[in-house]
Amino acid sequence: MDRRHLPGLGREVSAVGAGCWTIGGPATNRGVPIGWAGVDADEALAALVRAHDLAVSLYDTADVYGLGQSERLIGRLLKLVNRSRLVISSKVGYFAGTAIHPYAAAQMRRQLLTSLSNLGTDYLDVYFLHSSDFGPDDRYLDEAVETVQRLRRDGLIGAVGMRAPHEFAAEWATDPNHPQAAESARFLALFERIKPDVLTVRYNLLSPLYAPDETDVFSFARRHQVGLLLKQVLGQGLLIGARSPSSPMAFPAGDHRQGGPLFTATALRAIHAGLDQLCQRFGDGQADLTRVAVRYALQRDPNAVVLLGFRNARQIGSNVTCLGEPLSLEDIGAIQLAMSSVRDMLAASGPAISNSHQEHSA
Ligand SMILES: NC(=O)c1ccc[n+]([C@@H]2O[C@H](COP(=O)([O-])OP(=O)(O)OC[C@H]3O[C@@H](n4cnc5c(N)ncnc54)[C@H](OP(=O)(O)O)[C@@H]3O)[C@@H](O)[C@H]2O)c1
Repeated sequence: MDRRHLPGLGREVSAVGAGCWTIGGPATNRGVPIGWAGVDADEALAALVRAHDLAVSLYDTADVYGLGQSERLIGRLLKLVNRSRLVISSKVGYFAGTAIHPYAAAQMRRQLLTSLSNLGTDYLDVYFLHSSDFGPDDRYLDEAVETVQRLRRDGLIGAVGMRAPHEFAAEWATDPNHPQAAESARFLALFERIKPDVLTVRYNLLSPLYAPDETDVFSFARRHQVGLLLKQVLGQGLLIGARSPSSPMAFPAGDHRQGGPLFTATALRAIHAGLDQLCQRFGDGQADLTRVAVRYALQRDPNAVVLLGFRNARQIGSNVTCLGEPLSLEDIGAIQLAMSSVRDMLAASGPAISNSHQEHSA
């Protein structure tokens, strides 16, 4: 397993981290499905052990992933291994409990203590402000920032994280005609106030390409020396051919993918048109497509780390061991060409699909 120095964290981690939202299983938060159906806890624990055996040293979870189930599973792993060698990241900001807001100081402290108890550890290496909803007029923003600073001073957390938008360039924030102007400006304002050490961002084969004079999230992170964790690299299974346009797209209750705009037959047909081209060049096994998806993300930036979701040892095992040789520049050009046609097809399919770049609630 390659290792990378993650700016903002100040230490090396495995280039591929375990994204543990998926193993939390089905869940709802304020009535909204935020989980993954059909996850078996014993299989999930076996997957964590397999990841550890494969030298995965970063485990990303959140208080709302399975409403504590994901953290508790990692806690079972931590009983078996050397905790100090691992980087554990968790999050706060969606679950309000009985408080008036998830970012009320008392609620944040209560959530952190619950996360630490679930994990069976006394500190987190990274703590994310998961949601960018800080209440009306950002009423809880100062409280949230002051609370994470205090938690850090108390030695309960290390680095502080926040999410970046999927589509972002710093220049868009000041272009009133750009459709992403408001979201870009909001991110910049929150970044300035929170001063995070680490960002998490969706990045995969469907992510947009930027002009050389645009400051995308990678240039932005480099400029500010913050670490980047890349998520949805597998497109939640869609970019490795795990879903066929002809198979039903139904998900059981509690799975956030139910009704997701990319999990429709129309969107899948567009995606598969691109994947077919990739298969011709790279091979048509799922492992071939996984290698393409993960290498494409890893090679975007030498300081970024990829988070991969999984539900069992087979998935995490094949995801980590299939990476093979790096992609050539010609390979990357061919991937971008194939997937830009997919983006065009998705955009032409209507607003529901082209708006699919919205972040999920978890
Ligand atoms: N997505 C977000 O908004 C977000 C936000 C913050 C943090 N994160 C972090 O990023 C992590 C990664 O999750 P993600 O949402 O980005 O999903 P992802 O890694 O793109 O996809 C994970 C899903 O892909 C499928 N899969 C993975 N390996 C497979 C294999 N070998 N064969 C067949 N299917 C396979 C599984 O789907 P099935 O379950 O259908 O088998 C798995 O649940 C999260 O766990 C979390 O830690 C994500």
